[in-house]
Amino acid sequence: MRSVWHPCTQMKHHETYPLVPIKKGEGVWLYDADGKRYLDAVSSWWVNLFGHNNPIIKDAIKTQLDQLEHVMLAGFTHEPVVELSEKLAQLTGLGHAFYASDGASATEIALKMSFHYWRNAGKSHKTKFISLQNSYHGETLGALGVTDVAIFKDTYAPLLTQSAQMPSPDFRLAEPGESAEDYAGRCADALEAYVRTHHAELAAFIIEPLVQCAAGMGMYHADYLRRACEICNEYDVHLIADEIAVGFGRTGTMFACEYAGVLPHFICLSKGITGGYLPLSAVLTTDDIYQAFYDDRTARGFLHSHSYTGNPLACSAALATLAIFETENVLENNKLKAQYLKNKMQALTHLPIKHMRYQGMIAAFDMEKHSSAFSSQCYAEALKQGLLLRPIGNTVYFMPPYTISESEIDWMVDATHRTLNTLEKVL
Ligand SMILES: Cc1ncc(COP(=O)(O)O)c(C=O)c1O
Repeated sequence: MRSVWHPCTQMKHHETYPLVPIKKGEGVWLYDADGKRYLDAVSSWWVNLFGHNNPIIKDAIKTQLDQLEHVMLAGFTHEPVVELSEKLAQLTGLGHAFYASDGASATEIALKMSFHYWRNAGKSHKTKFISLQNSYHGETLGALGVTDVAIFKDTYAPLLTQSAQMPSPDFRLAEPGESAEDYAGRCADALEAYVRTHHAELAAFIIEPLVQCAAGMGMYHADYLRRACEICNEYDVHLIADEIAVGFGRTGTMFACEYAGVLPHFICLSKGITGGYLPLSAVLTTDDIYQAFYDDRTARGFLHSHSYTGNPLACSAALATLAIFETENVLENNKLKAQYLKNKMQALTHLPIKHMRYQGMIAAFDMEKHSSAFSSQCYAEALKQGLLLRPIGNTVYFMPPYTISESEIDWMVDATHRTLNTLEKVL
């Protein structure tokens, strides 16, 4: 066991909470080595869209495997990457896709591209970034520089590029009696005041559209995103939409920006892009930004690379994922599922909880009492019930695969109920 150093983990805690060895997955279920099953209510860190062992995505990868497993993307190209780029351009309205393998790398690429764009445009004083309070954009050094989660960031502070954090529109932070919309307006005013003063040095504002997932599913009114886009356009600051967690239908529309009717300068995508099958990320951007790099001089090009950039297997998984959206009326069906989940969750409202909230296929609530032990105890108790829940602080959330059935939703919420009842006695 010691040979594997697990992510986001104090390894010593596994003396108390043993690792769960998973053997196979099927639909929303994961099966451990003893055959015990767990409902994957968090889509394996928000990546899985259409269930484990999905036949369509699996077949697409197998077919691609017989053709070409990988080729470097510098100097070479292949059908899956061209087709995927064209599809993503149609879907997002941003016509140029740059690829990597995980979310944090996409953040790095968007930050570097924005900075480099301003340099190529003769505005090399535009070097600074802003993000939201409690934002999360990944954990490589550049991404941590715009992330605002103390536990991940503080240790590495001396290594990080400074950025400024704007008030978060997460409506849990509103004043009592203030509506989500009014609070969004107040936060947008604060953003505008900052940008008005500092725009000459600002390269970009990076934001998680509609839901700050790692902040504990902090949801906010779409007006904030609309205002942020207007402000960025007015003051010549790039808007980077980090849709790594919320893209591909999570918030109700294909992309959260679409929900708010905004077109950012960059969109970062990952996680659900391959349906949760293979690591892939992409940064999409505008013609204007692409053209600023297009030149005879090599140094004006975007000389960033990763060995597995645009991997054909991952691209074919992404194409199969997009095909499922096209053929199975996913977004419409999700509306019904989200409503069903919302109705079912009313059964939890008598518990000591607050801020019940929903956005597309994400639902969350917070425990009234804050206890530092809550998340690990809830996680462990839920596992006993056969449920993979991974609370963030005192936030319990559901972000299941879209293939979850109504009876599985019932089971998931009932198992959560049992878990919280048990914990209420213990905490
Ligand atoms: C909004 C957001 N951005 C970036 C990331 C980083 O993605 P990855 O873990 O693939 O590096 C995450 C991961 O949870 C995320 O939620």
